[in-house]
Amino acid sequence: MIDVILGLQWGDEGKGKIVDYFAKDYDMIARFQGGPNAGHTLYVGNEKVVLHQIPSGIFHDHKENLIGSGVVLDPITLIKECEAVKKLGVDYRKNLYISERTHLILPTHRALDKASEINKGIEKIGSTLKGIGPAYMDKTGRNGLRVGDLLNKSFTTQYIKLRLKHQRMLDSFNFTEDISDWEEEFFEALEFIRSFKIVNGEYFINEKLSQGKKILAEGAQGSMLDVDFGTFPFVTSSSTISAGVCTGLGVAPQKIKEVIGITKAYCTRVGSGPFPTELTDETGDFLRNAGNEFGSTTGRPRRCGWIDGVALQFACMINGVTQIVMTKADILDGLEQLKVCTKYKIDDQETNWVPFQMLKSKPEAIYETLEGWNTDITKIDDYNNMPAAMKTYINYLNKFLGVPVKYISNGPGREQLVKA
Ligand code: GDP
Ligand code: IMO
Ligand code: MG
Repeated sequence: MIDVILGLQWGDEGKGKIVDYFAKDYDMIARFQGGPNAGHTLYVGNEKVVLHQIPSGIFHDHKENLIGSGVVLDPITLIKECEAVKKLGVDYRKNLYISERTHLILPTHRALDKASEINKGIEKIGSTLKGIGPAYMDKTGRNGLRVGDLLNKSFTTQYIKLRLKHQRMLDSFNFTEDISDWEEEFFEALEFIRSFKIVNGEYFINEKLSQGKKILAEGAQGSMLDVDFGTFPFVTSSSTISAGVCTGLGVAPQKIKEVIGITKAYCTRVGSGPFPTELTDETGDFLRNAGNEFGSTTGRPRRCGWIDGVALQFACMINGVTQIVMTKADILDGLEQLKVCTKYKIDDQETNWVPFQMLKSKPEAIYETLEGWNTDITKIDDYNNMPAAMKTYINYLNKFLGVPVKYISNGPGREQLVKA
């Protein structure tokens, strides 16, 4: 049986914290897509850790952690992450596995990401510049190199061939930055990867499933950044939704049981693209400051706004969400009034559908206003003791989304999670 935890918005919903919390109930945590563009924050004691590619179960000693086939892996970032978790006492060699089908991010992928963004000018995606788009393009274009290739003698020849192709593309972008330092680091990092437990991810995971083991799939990014169903082209390059678990790990859809969707109590987005409930006023600034809304991977300020019920309904539909975890409820503590976007207005017509081209349709958010609770909830550990206005907010969303909010996170700490 496999359960999934994934983001329902534009990323950074708090997946790292929630995966870490639930990891104790599972035997294995597996990442199925994305790569170093992800930044999943968790706290080990008072230490803050940001994981990019390592699954967020790594701090649970007896769990296995798999970087699955659907991930694109940057070896240089992986070394840094491994060093960070080692400092906190984790023997990552013991319980971290990498699938041989996982694609590698090459230094030239990072350069191509940067060149492409510069070339797009004001139309840029606002990518994390980690090489995600070019690496996935090489995967679907059937050129990419995989972790399993590292064990073949022909790896260097394959690398040189692909590098030449990338150089021609970089030349066409007039990209002249010297990347030789990255390449040196990359080749050192490949030695490190070779020494890892490289497995056939599909047999590895399916054998565990047939032994009755419990697996938790950890999503990266969010549903509105999904390459097919997000706000294209302002999306990432992978399938961030529950279907991505099947293609990214090689498991059948019938094996998926719970789909746990995470939403913030409000909404954020980092990078370019449409964001109907964005607040560019002082309430937006309040959310950014109170919520410390700065990117975990890039440090960029996140755009902030009210919760978008229309986008959430859509995300619940395409993922088959069975329960919701609402994070950062405590950030709304200081607000007198809260708003929930319940409809979009496009060309004077109201709709509850997410449009095909959100940027061109310019949806105007229509809101329902609810009372704020204006109380510090960070120390409350029993739902019964939550303020009435917070319960009203939760009940409203339960009804609107047709999926229950089962947990409320009221602080970044490991134990700050209240069962509704
Ligand atoms: P992820 O990418 O979905 O794992 O989310 P990030 O780690 O990028 O961003 C979430 C941020 O919110 C992190 O700094 C978390 O420590 C923090 N966080 C998570 N849940 C809560 C919460 O309930 N309240 C507060 N105040 N912070 C939270
Ligand atoms: P986690 O897992 C928030 C955004 C980027 C950009 C777009 C494409 O921490 O929630 P990419 O580098 O993937 O080509 O960038 O997607 N983005 C994220 N935003 N959280 C993330 O990951 C993100 N990963 C990518 O800002 O708009
Ligand atoms: Mg993040």
